[in-house]
Amino acid sequence: MRTKVVENRTPDSRDEVRIAYDRIAERFDETRAAGESGWPFVERLVALARTNCSGSLRVLDAGCGAGRPVLQRLAERGCAVTGIDASAKMCELARRHVPSARILCADMLEVDLGETFDAVIAWDSLFHVPRERHAEAYARFAGWLKPGGGLLLSLGGREGDIRGEMFGASFFYNALAPEAARVLLEGAGFAIAHWELDDLTGGGHLAVLARRT
Ligand SMILES: C[S@@+](CC[C@H](N)C(=O)[O-])C[C@H]1O[C@@H](n2cnc3c(N)ncnc32)[C@H](O)[C@@H]1O
Repeated sequence: MRTKVVENRTPDSRDEVRIAYDRIAERFDETRAAGESGWPFVERLVALARTNCSGSLRVLDAGCGAGRPVLQRLAERGCAVTGIDASAKMCELARRHVPSARILCADMLEVDLGETFDAVIAWDSLFHVPRERHAEAYARFAGWLKPGGGLLLSLGGREGDIRGEMFGASFFYNALAPEAARVLLEGAGFAIAHWELDDLTGGGHLAVLARRT
């Protein structure tokens, strides 16, 4: 992926992001399915959530993409999985790959789920949400989790706005400074369990595991 820092940031590019993912969904899916895409962190999330739940884990993936590998592997391991994605094409692929999953085509800042989960994942999705709305997203994640439930996030590794290109489509990414993200997460009722800058290329990539207190 090629990236460059943008000076005139787009205040809210969620529609643009959704349309761009519709365009590239199949190529994105093929690439993702061939790799691990955060799976080692998902295994850590499952271990964390299991300390708080003895039965089948209920897991929500916010920005689940085409469902591979994460939702598919979780379903194969007996988890009850729900995915939300703003892109209709991604949802269509996720339903095909993970027929047992409940897949909702919706914006994570707007969807009303009316239920709670043992674990919530927002892997490589929140950096498409304007950072001015990250506090709201964290409050939503906390509301979707049972007390003691686990959260896995990835975030951009440094504050700023980036325009990147993937499979010929242009994408907007953004992030808060990591310490500002930590303050917001703790303010939303999360205790940080693991914090790792796992990729320093481009804008950097931060993996965060937390537990809802
Ligand atoms: C880079 S992909 C990651 C997909 C999946 N989490 C993975 O790791 O393979 C980002 C996904 O987040 C979705 N997304 C971005 N913003 C969203 C929002 N506000 N609400 C729901 N989905 C969103 C996109 O449609 C896209 O499928």
